Amino acid sequence: MENFIQKYLEYNRHWAQHKREEDAGYFDLLAGGQHPEALILGCSDSRVSPSVVVGADLGEVFVHRNIANVVAHSDLNFLSVFQYAVEVLGVKHIIVVGHYGCGGVQAAMSDKVFGLIDNWLANIKDVMALHEKELNAIADEHRRFDRLVELNVLEQIKNIRQTSVYRKALQKGAAPELHGWVYNFSTGLINVIFGQGVNSPASAV
Ligand code: CO
Repeated sequence: MENFIQKYLEYNRHWAQHKREEDAGYFDLLAGGQHPEALILGCSDSRVSPSVVVGADLGEVFVHRNIANVVAHSDLNFLSVFQYAVEVLGVKHIIVVGHYGCGGVQAAMSDKVFGLIDNWLANIKDVMALHEKELNAIADEHRRFDRLVELNVLEQIKNIRQTSVYRKALQKGAAPELHGWVYNFSTGLINVIFGQGVNSPASAV
């Protein structure tokens, strides 16, 4: 079996050297501070690393990831990241990136009991309950799953709007622009369902 740890550490040494050769000031610039343009909330899934799929260099995006890209009002972890991104870093954009085939969303759709994680997945069950009528009208199970992934992104944007941090920024006229994307790991492409460049407008939430 390949030794992944060894491989990663070796890659890191080569990468750091290559970066220094390419641009001697590269790491000095990063060490000087960060000014990311966007906060991305994505899923923890190993196939959907958001900065990779948009080609963002180090320093460009502030990232928070959890199972099924959820904004829970009692989650101090996300809320702290969010406050820092908006109030200290002054990000101009907030992008919620869900993905088709999300295991968290799929687990929430099932009736199985998984244990501790069910408490987290209850956030998605709430989304299901809110859109029960629309979801129940979709006969095809895969399409219903895809739609729930999209609705989950839209509901999380709605949750962001309800946070005190966002509302405060809005009052100051400094609210970041909101975006909803759904990444497809079967094609590598992003489906924009909310905000700038929308190519598959989803119904309003
Ligand atoms: Co996922």
